[in-house]
Amino acid sequence: MAILVLGGAGYIGSHTVYELIDAGRDVVVADNLQTGFRAAVHPKARFYQLDIRDKGALDTLFQAEDIEGVIHFAASSQVGESMSDPLKYYDNNLHGTMVLLKSMVEHGVDKIVFSSTAATYGEPERVPILETDRTQPTNCYGETKLSMEHMMSWVSRAHGLKYVALRYFNACGAHPSGAIGEAHDPETHLIPIILQVPNGQREAVSVFGDDYPTADGTCIRDYIHVTDLAQAHILALDYLLKGGENNVFNLGNGVGFSVKEVIDVAREVTGHPIPAVISPRRAGDPAQLIASSQKAIDVLGWQPRYNDLNTIIATAWAWHRSHPHGFEEG
Ligand code: UFG
Repeated sequence: MAILVLGGAGYIGSHTVYELIDAGRDVVVADNLQTGFRAAVHPKARFYQLDIRDKGALDTLFQAEDIEGVIHFAASSQVGESMSDPLKYYDNNLHGTMVLLKSMVEHGVDKIVFSSTAATYGEPERVPILETDRTQPTNCYGETKLSMEHMMSWVSRAHGLKYVALRYFNACGAHPSGAIGEAHDPETHLIPIILQVPNGQREAVSVFGDDYPTADGTCIRDYIHVTDLAQAHILALDYLLKGGENNVFNLGNGVGFSVKEVIDVAREVTGHPIPAVISPRRAGDPAQLIASSQKAIDVLGWQPRYNDLNTIIATAWAWHRSHPHGFEEG
């Protein structure tokens, strides 16, 4: 039987497919290639180009393949865009998931692991954040992800579907082989933006605010390597396949780094001075987001291997310097 990875041509999806194939699993990937790349799909995965809102295409896939579980990454994920175009997020993330669940229920596929986010918490009550803490998203992206969690829960009650929601903190880094990595257009994430400076694509990095209530005044985030995230998806799926109950897990390293600290580590890793310019705050940024991932460690047996920011940034740098234009030809 095969695992279906929806959005398997995207950043976290493609890394999860690599880990699944390395573990000897049979993998089917579906992606509409709107933000993903065909070249990011592992050559040993069977690929379907489809949009999850196209129920006919999904039905055909479920008829053709013997799917034991679904890992669902197929969603829009830009916080800023979700505020200027919220309906795109309701359509792709919520309507897309609704169509998917309908097709899964009809075809008797009843296990799903899917991407949720730290953005479901909004401004945290405290750090480290526990899964039971208040969820009050401050952006439409986080709102649609929280609604996806709720949708799963109701469908579970009605149809017996089992799900795991994985709330990622700041995904970063690249596959240690250098074969795949992060490629967003436009790029908004801190680490790839910083690395554009030593790559000769940007003069300086902007630091969005240095007047936050943190030690150096810049925002603190919990950076987690994409391969560690990928491993958590496999553990979560195996947990469901062994009869595990519906669950929600945070995924982070449990350690926070400020924007200034991340830039310092990138200077060390690249040997480049990387000029930084203090700029105004970016709307909607919480001062600190740090995960407690104790539950994933205890229940899933997850053990993040990349808990050192130097190594994380070194994997990202190896990817970006060898692929300055991502998956596109230079
Ligand atoms: N930052 C800068 N300069 C930049 C880019 C980012 O200073 O050029 C700062 C941001 O203000 C923030 C930190 O670097 O303080 C990290 O920003 P990212 O955009 O890399 O990541 P976010 O923490 O904003 O977003 C991440 C995920 C989202 C998720 C969110 C949860 O990428 O998908 O965490 O709040 F929704």
